[in-house]
Amino acid sequence: MDKEYKELQVSSRLLLGPGPSNVHPRVLKAMATPLIGHLDPEFLQIMNETMELLRWLFRTENQLTIPMSGTGSLGMETCFVNTLEEGDSALICVNGVFGQRMVDNAERCGARVDTVTAPWGEPIDTAEVEKALAQKDYKLLAVVHAETSTGVLQPLEELSRMAKDRGTLFLVDTVTSLGGCPLEVDKTGIDICYSGTQKCLSIPPSLAPVTFSEKAAAVIQKRQAKVQSWYQDLSMIASYWGKERVYHHTAPISSIFALREGLRVIYEEGLEARIQRHKTNAAALWAGVEALGLELLVEEKYRAPSLTTVRIPEGIDDPAVRKALLDRHNIEVGGGLGVLKGKVWRVGLMGENSHANSVFLLLSALGSILNGMGFACSTGEALQEAAKIY
Ligand SMILES: Cc1ncc(COP(=O)(O)O)c(C=O)c1O
Repeated sequence: MDKEYKELQVSSRLLLGPGPSNVHPRVLKAMATPLIGHLDPEFLQIMNETMELLRWLFRTENQLTIPMSGTGSLGMETCFVNTLEEGDSALICVNGVFGQRMVDNAERCGARVDTVTAPWGEPIDTAEVEKALAQKDYKLLAVVHAETSTGVLQPLEELSRMAKDRGTLFLVDTVTSLGGCPLEVDKTGIDICYSGTQKCLSIPPSLAPVTFSEKAAAVIQKRQAKVQSWYQDLSMIASYWGKERVYHHTAPISSIFALREGLRVIYEEGLEARIQRHKTNAAALWAGVEALGLELLVEEKYRAPSLTTVRIPEGIDDPAVRKALLDRHNIEVGGGLGVLKGKVWRVGLMGENSHANSVFLLLSALGSILNGMGFACSTGEALQEAAKIY
């Protein structure tokens, strides 16, 4: 062996981008727990408790509430491949990257897809959805709750009511909202919902919690054709997570340990307190960023507390700012995606990172970098404005 491979070593970063967020130490510890078998009676108990905690978090009684083995995109695909069959019609709301990704998923299922679009940074206009729903019988209406590419938090109640009135299934992406933004699956009447672990749950990327209402589960049961993805076929996976405990694939045991511990952390904090914490810290960030003389992309009423998009001032070198944040301050923020590439920074205050320290550290780092680049701003004023929120 002539090549040396050094022991793994990574910098200690403050992850204030669009995800992942920093992981709670208790979750890291849980991941180091020695393995047991995925059919061990002790593991079955851990699975049951994980499902209970997920139901609690989603605010649902749905039996079919499980973590899929994969990231948020797998959660998305699971919802589409199980629900849609060749020739079905779906109406999908698109105002960013992830709405567009849902369209791609639905089309790959052979569905006929129509879209309702809104400019990036604006919410979907519910009147347009109502108009579209009146023109055709759709099996599914899908929308992203917190669009991570823009920072828009989409109001869901009206959309849900419209879907219900027409007997259309209502599907919601909650990857960037679950555990950080108000979400009530049963009360809102959401039929199908997926999320991810690495954002407001502060658990490493690895699992995609999904939940299906009885109505949605019944639709899946009545499918004409087999689900085209063997790995994501819920009729088989539900038998592993259900009473039968039939082997499907080897569960990612350490990730489920992590999920259970991460959910326990949230349970101990309490959902209302956690959501209020996300709101308060986001408000402080918004006040501080505006005091720096920067503009926010999204109108306050529609801003997601978990993800803030900041317009990059004219003449400021986007990659240079993000590199300075990372190299000098160990802070990661995200760049813009799609049409917003080079136009916005994406700042996540998610889960563990929704904290006053994150807000103050970012404002002072950003203020000093921008001043160094000739964009005159007062860091002191920004910190003061943020502090007023607390
Ligand atoms: C709203 C939304 N949906 C879906 C995804 C896809 O999740 P993942 O990257 O974990 O596959 C993301 C990831 O950022 C997201 O923000």
